[in-house]
Amino acid sequence: VIHHNTYLVDGELRKWEGNSTEVFSTISSTEAYKPTLLGSIPDMDEKSALDALGGALKAYNQGQGAWPTMRISDRIECMEKFVKKMEAKRNEVVKLLMWEIGKSLPDSEKEFDRTVDYIYDTIEDYKQLDRDAAKFKKHDGVYAHIRRGPLGVVLCLGPYNYPLNETFALLIPAIIMGNTTIFKPAKHGVLLITPLLEAFRSSFPKGVVNIIFGRGRTVASPIMKTGKVDVLALIGNSKSANALQEQHPKSNRLRLVLGLEAKNPAIILPDAELDLTIDECIAGTLSFNGQRCTALKVVYVHEDIQEEFNKRFAERVDALKFGNPWENGVKLTPLPEPGKPAYIQELIDDALSKGAKILNKKGGKHYDNYIWPAVLYPVTKDMRVYQEEQFGPVIPILSFKDIEEPLDDMAASNYGQQVSLFGKDVYALAPLIDTLVNLVCRVNLNSSCQRGPDVYPFTGRKDSAQATLSVHDALRSFSIRTFVASKDN
Ligand code: G3H
Repeated sequence: VIHHNTYLVDGELRKWEGNSTEVFSTISSTEAYKPTLLGSIPDMDEKSALDALGGALKAYNQGQGAWPTMRISDRIECMEKFVKKMEAKRNEVVKLLMWEIGKSLPDSEKEFDRTVDYIYDTIEDYKQLDRDAAKFKKHDGVYAHIRRGPLGVVLCLGPYNYPLNETFALLIPAIIMGNTTIFKPAKHGVLLITPLLEAFRSSFPKGVVNIIFGRGRTVASPIMKTGKVDVLALIGNSKSANALQEQHPKSNRLRLVLGLEAKNPAIILPDAELDLTIDECIAGTLSFNGQRCTALKVVYVHEDIQEEFNKRFAERVDALKFGNPWENGVKLTPLPEPGKPAYIQELIDDALSKGAKILNKKGGKHYDNYIWPAVLYPVTKDMRVYQEEQFGPVIPILSFKDIEEPLDDMAASNYGQQVSLFGKDVYALAPLIDTLVNLVCRVNLNSSCQRGPDVYPFTGRKDSAQATLSVHDALRSFSIRTFVASKDN
């Protein structure tokens, strides 16, 4: 059991002396798949949160030579120092990823390695940005030296499903562009940040990175209410993002970098290659138990192949292996959010009461902190499982006759992140792709939806995102174009 009580403010690792300690991490499963206590973390107070903000403000406003004006090569050196120290913590962080959020061993290793690659790629991209900025431009007798400058203080909040990778996809570009930061980890997947505190402390100047723990309302709200945050960077749900945004007294000045909900559909045309389609739909709907913003959350199947698809897909779901994240070949693992199985059950009950059936034999079977994925068919639009972002193991299937049906649904949806389109006839696919790219931001052909590779733009339309992430785009999202001009005289 890890009772962690240290946080990072203004270049110091401080001990939390307050009384309120919150049990934030309980997933670690035993053989009976019962949750066991893994550790606790302080639920810090307003004062400590404001100290962290003070650290970030001081570091940003220290004048010449401070982080925002520091030589680019010096900022890169700090980041390189950090990533090397982080790599030395691989085993510890990977173990905590498994224990805290139930991510399988291969996926946990991938999350760590992908994050390290992200940092190295960001450094390289930043060097290129700097090389481009070194070129002077001249138009109509005006010389300009155009570059990218930081935005100020960034409050950064990450999600529990990618507590390392997605949080760092916000934090790392924010830091390297010269902003100063306050980072509050997600409720689950919080302990795995603790082995990295010393690496942050010893790699960056005082106050550039401040790390605090606690509930959003106890620590993030007081920071927002000061009006001194310039960027809200959050991957999670729009309810938290909106609440925090509204607390900022000058919210129109706040830059938002947000990755939010999605309800990505799979559309399966009658000529789709079924083996491949089923493989991709299994991965798309159930990788990490469907707890991914990019997961396939609704499946549209053409009526001509409905029966065969339903039968084979349901069998494949029941053949997946459930177990602890560190066991070999495990695909389904315990869920970190204690209320999730009950929520999934509610969605199933609602769908059954409105005429859907569970297609797979094990669908809806309960373990302590798990519920077996239920494949539901026929799903209709009045069902909650169609309307809500389930973010867990339940798969709604709809039948369509005319392609306009899923297209109309996508146009009416509040979300617009990605879609997966399965079919063989390129002449039929081409016009469809043109329509789909205007409804979402990424069309995946004969493959499931995903964020990576991390060099590609990751964003969404409507309520799914604000700003774009990716190695390249995030540097732009966390900066503003500035320039120095002089006349040709
Ligand atoms: O939760 C949303 C993540 O960005 C999904 O990332 O597609 O790499 O699993 P992924």
